Amino acid sequence: MSEMEKARRSVDFADKPLCLSGRGVTKVFGIGDKKTVAVDHVDFDFHEGEFVSIVGESGSGKTTLSKMLLGLLGQSEGQILFQGKPRDISSGRKKKEYWKGIQAIFQDPFSSFNTFQKVDAVLLDCINMRGGKGLSKQDKYDMMTEACNFVNLKFAELTNKYPFELSGGQMQRLMIARIFLLKPKILLADEPTSMVDACSRATILDMLLNLRDETGMTVIFITHDIGLAYYISDTVYIMEHGKFVEYGKADEVILQPKAPYTKRLISDVPKIHEEWDLSTVDLLKTE
Ligand SMILES: Nc1ncnc2c1ncn2[C@@H]1O[C@H](COP(=O)(O)OP(=O)(O)OP(=O)(O)O)[C@@H](O)[C@H]1O
Ligand SMILES: [Mg+2]
Repeated sequence: MSEMEKARRSVDFADKPLCLSGRGVTKVFGIGDKKTVAVDHVDFDFHEGEFVSIVGESGSGKTTLSKMLLGLLGQSEGQILFQGKPRDISSGRKKKEYWKGIQAIFQDPFSSFNTFQKVDAVLLDCINMRGGKGLSKQDKYDMMTEACNFVNLKFAELTNKYPFELSGGQMQRLMIARIFLLKPKILLADEPTSMVDACSRATILDMLLNLRDETGMTVIFITHDIGLAYYISDTVYIMEHGKFVEYGKADEVILQPKAPYTKRLISDVPKIHEEWDLSTVDLLKTE
């Protein structure tokens, strides 16, 4: 582990202000025989600037929980708190206000863009949303260029293109450039790396980390890959059948797992106990 990573891991987030919390958060789909408890009384505290991973297998309830966090799906039971206060999204106006603070990157980047909006319009929208409507053309151009540089995209080459003219990897980087401009308090990323090869995957994860370092946003990273979670997060929540079976600092949970489910997830990753770097070829071989 590099010195920088060690420093990163020594931050104690329990002392930081609360960003998003949940108490007894539950989602039940259907009724009677067809009832599915997708999320089952989960408690959590995510702090400012914390990089949290939620790890679990397919069907464990990760996306359902994300949708509740985003306010796209109401919870059946329990309470979600934003910055320590009960979250109120009961009216359209309040919902809009909440959405200024939380942004998402989804599994499928294609669904994130309006097909008929060119790349520069996508980025310009972000600047306008952040109150930059009155800025000069040059200032806006500089901001868009900076955002593209941040994710290693060349703005000049993209400006006249539609999102569907980009590669999957470029599109994901464009999504991160949007986040760079929007600077939300919370970024929720539901497996944003699924579309790209393992190499650009590491790059994208590094970009998310840089973004967190630069803006102090809270990142909630949803994945079934416990190796990735170990590499990237401060804190890990392990989800099984809608419940958090274990949570804590990434090092503690993953190097000294207590729950049998966590142990099983880890045993599926052969090299987890060795100190590895995601960018090495070794890891690619284990996939
Ligand atoms: N709209 C819905 N109606 C009924 N059941 C649902 C609905 N959405 C999700 N479920 C069920 O809730 C459970 C959790 O699903 P969810 O999509 O949250 O899992 P996940 O952890 O995101 O899985 P994956 O890793 O495959 O994305 C599953 O059993 C799923 O079938
Ligand atoms: Mg999912």
